[in-house]
Amino acid sequence: MLTTVANDAGVFQGNAVPVPGPRRHVLDLDDFTADEITATLDNAAAMRAVLERDVKKVPALRGRVIVTLFYEASTRTRISFEEAGKILSADVINMTASASSIEKGESLLNTGLTLQAMGVDVIVVRHPHAGAPHFLARNLKNVAVINAGDGAHAHPTQGLLDLYTARDHLGGLPGRKVVIVGDVLHSRVARSAVWGFAKAGAHVILSGPPTLMPDPLTPGGWGAGGSNPPRRTNPLSNVSVEPDLDTAIEGADLVMALRLQSERQQRGFFPSLREYIRRWQVNDQRMARANPNALLMHPGPMNEGIEVSSNLAHGERSLIEEQVTNGVAIRMALLYQLVGAAAVEN
Ligand code: CP
Repeated sequence: MLTTVANDAGVFQGNAVPVPGPRRHVLDLDDFTADEITATLDNAAAMRAVLERDVKKVPALRGRVIVTLFYEASTRTRISFEEAGKILSADVINMTASASSIEKGESLLNTGLTLQAMGVDVIVVRHPHAGAPHFLARNLKNVAVINAGDGAHAHPTQGLLDLYTARDHLGGLPGRKVVIVGDVLHSRVARSAVWGFAKAGAHVILSGPPTLMPDPLTPGGWGAGGSNPPRRTNPLSNVSVEPDLDTAIEGADLVMALRLQSERQQRGFFPSLREYIRRWQVNDQRMARANPNALLMHPGPMNEGIEVSSNLAHGERSLIEEQVTNGVAIRMALLYQLVGAAAVEN
């Protein structure tokens, strides 16, 4: 049992939040238990308190070195990891693939081994290929690896910040109806969010063009259903698919719109953008079908006016900017849990 301690005083003693462990890496949410997710969100709440201070600095990771290794573009994930590390007093080094020896052909493995040889404690990696962070984690003995997004596979820290934001506003996730709509096929955010929300006891409905629905989402496939198009059920029994957004959104507590990932779409998945907007854009009229206090989330970056209307994205139901703030807190909590004092003592 690893005990992390993060309190409002920022001295990291008292108010202990036990985190089941030990955990060396954060690669996806499929290997997080519900208890570990809860403990991580609780620690993030303590980190949020640090973020609200005038002086945002605590010594928890003094002497630790974090490298962000990004093979793909990022604003939110990369900068929030940098901010999280710096607030916790770690030394944070940003490495851009295009400005490193990766440009000369150095492999991912040799890049990781080189960083390990320099005494780096954590590598935060984003890579276009699914499984790249897992490969690094398997091959590096002395470095903690955090997946900051691998291909269309997983984005666990985004999933955790989404869970944190939802729990904070809904007061609890068991039994809540969460609709995730859009380009699920190419969305690593959706894959991690599905694991997280399902483990937390929410009911997840995936909606969007049938051509943009993964089948199967998980090994073993989804069970066949009777409707046309088929309504399929994930082995995580509280996850289902409803292509018709007007039906899916009925009574929803939370709607998460996904970015249409045109850079990962090699062929036409729907007739036209106009058609996509008509059937799957999340807007005020559609939100009127959800619960009266239903909330909107989007992982960003947005194609504003396509998957979500501008009105809704910047309206009072939107949690989009709050998700970004909570992303810093979640990443602080994860860094602390992996290489903070308690983790090292363990
Ligand atoms: N949500 C997300 O991963 O955003 P970035 O690509 O800006 O990091």
